[in-house]
Amino acid sequence: MKLERARLGVNIDHVATIRNARGGVHPDPAKAAAIAQAAGADGITIHLREDRRHIRDADLDAVRAAVNLPINLEMATTDEMLAIALAYKPHAACLVPERREERTTEGGLDVARLHNQVEPFVRALRDGGSRVSLFIEPSKVQIAVAEAMGAPVVELHTGKYVELVFAGDHAAAGEELNRLREAAAYGHEKGIEIHVGHGLTYDTIRPVAAIPEVRELNIGHFIMGEALFVGLDAAVRRMRHEIDLARGNA
Ligand code: PXP
Repeated sequence: MKLERARLGVNIDHVATIRNARGGVHPDPAKAAAIAQAAGADGITIHLREDRRHIRDADLDAVRAAVNLPINLEMATTDEMLAIALAYKPHAACLVPERREERTTEGGLDVARLHNQVEPFVRALRDGGSRVSLFIEPSKVQIAVAEAMGAPVVELHTGKYVELVFAGDHAAAGEELNRLREAAAYGHEKGIEIHVGHGLTYDTIRPVAAIPEVRELNIGHFIMGEALFVGLDAAVRRMRHEIDLARGNA
């Protein structure tokens, strides 16, 4: 079975995490973006967090100058981030939940509960020329609300699926994979572009990448971890290959 090629967005946040561990300028996230581009990434994803724990404001322009790939800016629904995004005008703006005390983005943005808070951000970013994506749990309710808000893209949170695989709970992982499949089909039917991301690894990517409606996969932490062993170029190429294998494009 041959499916339409899916894009790989490489999240370079954790290059900045290592840099910030020591301060200074090394390793440079913009250099990582350029290497990811040369290795076959279709986009660069960065998350400017409120606490600037990895990507910092100055990285935004530096990353843009280093590549000619679309940039996907992940951001919380705060006035500060909205002002930055409207000035930066990323190709895509992905709205994510954010809590200072969390280690990473835990769970999707509950757009059903937070409708009144999120909707003005969708409108403002869309009017500002960015393609808005909502990072949500794979649930029909969340997708229906995303549709009602006029979001052109949703990114389905794959973190739970990955966790279940690594916990060895194959029955529950299978159920979660089915939720991802059903949500992808439902969103696609509604005309929403389907992205996926969070926690994906070589061992977990194939069933997710094989979901026909998936158009883009955003992957960061695992690629950067592998890059320590094999180099960033090889890690990106291997992930790209895994996606192509899963979709019958290799
Ligand atoms: N997609 C979104 C919306 C995210 O918040 C993250 C983590 O920043 C990712 C994808 C990438 O997740 P990971 O770093 O676990 O691959």
